[in-house]
Amino acid sequence: MTLIPKQAAAGFWDKVYEGNDFAFGREPNAWFASKASYLKKGQRILMVADGEGRNSIWCAQKGLVVDAFDLSAKGIEKARRFAVESGVTVNFTAAGVDDWDWEPNAYDAVTLILCQFATPSMRKKLFADCIKTLKTGGLFFVLGYTVKQLEYGTGGPSNAAQLYTEAMLRDLVQGMVILELESFDMEVSAGRHRGKSAFVGLVSRKK
Ligand SMILES: C[S@@+](CC[C@H](N)C(=O)[O-])C[C@H]1O[C@@H](n2cnc3c(N)ncnc32)[C@H](O)[C@@H]1O
Repeated sequence: MTLIPKQAAAGFWDKVYEGNDFAFGREPNAWFASKASYLKKGQRILMVADGEGRNSIWCAQKGLVVDAFDLSAKGIEKARRFAVESGVTVNFTAAGVDDWDWEPNAYDAVTLILCQFATPSMRKKLFADCIKTLKTGGLFFVLGYTVKQLEYGTGGPSNAAQLYTEAMLRDLVQGMVILELESFDMEVSAGRHRGKSAFVGLVSRKK
């Protein structure tokens, strides 16, 4: 994926999500699921660029109060059907990150799972908005591909400017307490996404 304007990006992702199969599978992202012990029933969580709902529905099943949005109207439509089938409620909205109303101090947790559509300047604002919308003590979960992923070629952006490094994430969450920051390789088997992949995961807390 290269840097593309918003309308083209919406069209691209609508195409990815058409059809009945789930591009990233129905199970939550494995790294995020491994962080379950941080999440508590009744907490309010925002899932940014949630796609077809695999992560938000998993949070709702754990008893969290979930808001989720994504640029792709097709992704959101599918996520809504998936939530009904799963018997849970998620407050879904079709919106881009620049349309979302980033209410200050509103959430106990915010997720950015594989949201590497952002250009460097967009990324700075996106991270600042995610931190702004967290309450004091709120948790920020970020998972993305690192530049090493270019060697594996098993998914994610082909533009190095959209990939993460630990130093970049440390800088983007300046002022937060970093609870976990780790680069790792993982064998992925999620929907159409398969193969060895290079990630960096961050969990940080707002002071
Ligand atoms: C790699 S997918 C990850 C989806 C989801 N987080 C998951 O882990 O299953 C990236 C998502 O970003 C969404 N997206 C792309 N540009 C966006 C934007 N400007 N605002 C909000 N969502 C966007 C796409 O529609 C897509 O669903």
